[in-house]
Amino acid sequence: MRLKHCHNFQDFRTLARKRLPGPIFNYIDGAADDEVTYRRNTAAFDDVDLVPNVLAGVKDIDMSVTVMGQKLDMPIYCSPTALQRLFHHQGERAVAAAAAKYGTMFGVSSLGTVSLEEVRKAHSNPQVYQFYFHKDRGLNKAMMERAKESGIDVMMLTVDSITGGNRERDKRTGFSIPFQLTPRGILEFMIKPAWGINYVTHESFKLPQLDDHVDMSGGAVSIGRYFTDMLDPSMDWDDVAEMVKLWDGQFCLKGIMSVEDAKRAIDIGCTGIILSNHGGRQLDGSRTAFDQLAEIVDAVGDQIDVIMDGGIQRGTHILKALSLGAKAVGGGRFYLYALAAAGQPGVERALELMRTEIERDMRLMGCRSVADLSVSNLRFR
Ligand code: LAC
Repeated sequence: MRLKHCHNFQDFRTLARKRLPGPIFNYIDGAADDEVTYRRNTAAFDDVDLVPNVLAGVKDIDMSVTVMGQKLDMPIYCSPTALQRLFHHQGERAVAAAAAKYGTMFGVSSLGTVSLEEVRKAHSNPQVYQFYFHKDRGLNKAMMERAKESGIDVMMLTVDSITGGNRERDKRTGFSIPFQLTPRGILEFMIKPAWGINYVTHESFKLPQLDDHVDMSGGAVSIGRYFTDMLDPSMDWDDVAEMVKLWDGQFCLKGIMSVEDAKRAIDIGCTGIILSNHGGRQLDGSRTAFDQLAEIVDAVGDQIDVIMDGGIQRGTHILKALSLGAKAVGGGRFYLYALAAAGQPGVERALELMRTEIERDMRLMGCRSVADLSVSNLRFR
């Protein structure tokens, strides 16, 4: 299969699986425990049907949205994700460039493999910084200052990953950095030599956001261990309130799910919340963002920008979320598989396909702009 034969999410996934060694593919593809929440994330969209209005004069379609003060030309953005240069040597550079081309937002993670400053300098589309709260308060402060200086538009604090999720696929393969593979994991790398050649012939692996703070020379940092050893599970609302004050700009919490927490986010001055279960990778059995969206929008939608992520594979999924009142949606795997499949042209194609789907679907729904989408266009089964 080639890039030009990729027409949807599942096609990119198939191509990514072909290109990547099993342990890396499974790190992206996997989730926590029995992966029930992961599967439900996408399935949830099927419990709601779209009800179109016809003959609406839909020649011109405007799918732009404004969220946390950022104007996006399309309502889906590339959520920050970790370790992108493991998936393709262009990593974050490819994602940032593709997002810039499509006028949407992207993020660089604390566990990013390209520095937030480098991509900030290269592009002017909105950039978020995905922040993890470390035990080392000095590190937290230094990271915030760096992000501020570099001109990051939105600070995005992940609050659902205070300890590592139980990723059993990673345990089976021995996925960590540097790799500490099980015999099965080694075999899976050996049968994908092209990935290995590519990996060793490009710039060596780094985590530039954490450079001075994580010693990667002695022993492996697994994602689970990073979360569990370095992040601070005692983080509470007072700590975050302090961060919000210090940041003094657009600040959102990623992983808010309850109305109570949404209200607290408003109280401490956040400008956005992202309903998310981290792609099903943290608490299995937790509710999906889409299922929870109406309840949160009803309670706080007029006071804070409500965003959601998780499970989005189609333009119609995005329309359903926007109809329920989400201001924008985030996606991770939809561009990661594409990145793994083909680097920047892959991510561009994923965004292009998404844009085409959204435009066609809005036309078929009889909506000229996102403001035309409302809950009256939905029926729950
Ligand atoms: C993960 C983190 C790093 O889900 O976001 O693996």
